[in-house]
Amino acid sequence: MLNLVIFGAPGSGKGTQSDLLSEKYGLFHISTGDVLREKIKNQTELGKKAEEIISKGQLIPDELMIDILLKVMSDQPEAKGFIFDGFPRTLPQAEALSEMLQKNDNDIAAVIALTVDENELVNRLLKRGEVSGRTDDNLETIQKRLTVYRNQTEPLIGFYKQVGIFHGIDGIGTIDHISGQISAIIEAL
Ligand code: AP5
Ligand code: MG
Repeated sequence: MLNLVIFGAPGSGKGTQSDLLSEKYGLFHISTGDVLREKIKNQTELGKKAEEIISKGQLIPDELMIDILLKVMSDQPEAKGFIFDGFPRTLPQAEALSEMLQKNDNDIAAVIALTVDENELVNRLLKRGEVSGRTDDNLETIQKRLTVYRNQTEPLIGFYKQVGIFHGIDGIGTIDHISGQISAIIEAL
């Protein structure tokens, strides 16, 4: 099983690159943001709660998020591997993910992080906000998302460096060029 984490700030290109990778390597792409937006669309109880949190740019509580992820994974028993996009975002989530995988003798092969400066992130998200309909793609919420990323998610870089599976790449450039760099990392694993 090949499991990859595509890591990066809001707007860094996680979703874009994960879509390409899942196609190329036949891996199952889990975007926790997409999973939550689907629940919002269906206006489930959980969806209503998530909607409020997401539109404020905050994180869904860890326990809840871990349960959701576990369910998505267990619904895919045939998967050749997973691409985790937007998960983990906190240390407890990172620990839970390793635990879940290790229970079945699996692990994360690589954490691939896309580095993009904040000006570019804001520009990308504002541009997407013109058409995405995402309640969190407005300047105020984008800034909150970036602060949450810096405080709660960025520390995972140190964690994964220590584990020895961290790979950072420049997330600025053409989508194809970035995708090529990610493929090179995967093929060298
Ligand atoms: P989530 O949906 O994960 O959003 P995000 O992390 O803020 O990231 P985005 O989806 O906005 O950006 P992306 O990195 O996928 O970039 P994309 O490829 O779209 O999470 C949303 C919310 O859900 C969170 O704030 C939180 O509330 C909740 N949540 C989710 N997961 C959670 C978790 N684990 N725990 C707790 N809460 C959680 O690209 C962005 C734009 O740039 C696009 O328009 C794209 O076309 C463009 N673009 C992509 N690549 C390039 C390039 N190379 N050059 C120029 N433009 C590019
Ligand atoms: Mg995304």
